[in-house]
Amino acid sequence: MMSAETTCASNGKEGDNNGAQFSWEIEKLPVGLLSDPLDYFFADHHRQRQAALIIAKIADGHFNKDGVRALIRFLEIDFARHVADEEISFFPLLREQCLPEDGMDALLEKLIEEHKADESICVDVLEILKRRMHGRMLQGNDVEKLNSFADHLKSHLALENGALLPIARLRFDSKALDVLSELLKERRKEEAGLQK
Ligand SMILES: [Fe+2]
Ligand SMILES: [Fe+2]
Repeated sequence: MMSAETTCASNGKEGDNNGAQFSWEIEKLPVGLLSDPLDYFFADHHRQRQAALIIAKIADGHFNKDGVRALIRFLEIDFARHVADEEISFFPLLREQCLPEDGMDALLEKLIEEHKADESICVDVLEILKRRMHGRMLQGNDVEKLNSFADHLKSHLALENGALLPIARLRFDSKALDVLSELLKERRKEEAGLQK
């Protein structure tokens, strides 16, 4: 449970009275889920939805120091890793496993374009969040940028959950699932090695 200050920037008062039930936490994923890679992607998408809700909350004038700190870390590390999981590991396997009638090439092209747009907006969003951590209020078109990123994330998730994962569940056999699982685990081992 988050314990740090929670403020409503719009009135400067302590306490987030409009969002008493709101959670600033982004859930952790159990490492064991990597053995079920499609479930892992679905669960990771749920975390991104949580991040989108937090970003919209910040755009609405609310602030929680621990929550924003965790969000920055999520966007810089977890979100970047998710895009690598998809573009480097998952999407090439989808191209191999899917049939022409699945229309996978066009779908992946669209998703990769959306990733590029996300990465570009994310740079601005991180700058806004870091300014907020230093006590600066939202200014100019910050609110628009935050809401635009949150909306973009949610529509991307809807497309991946609604179209990409169902096709993968249909086309991936146990061998493909094992390969994907190993690739995801390998990426995390490499990251852990770099951090030593
Ligand atoms: Fe995704
Ligand atoms: Fe994606």
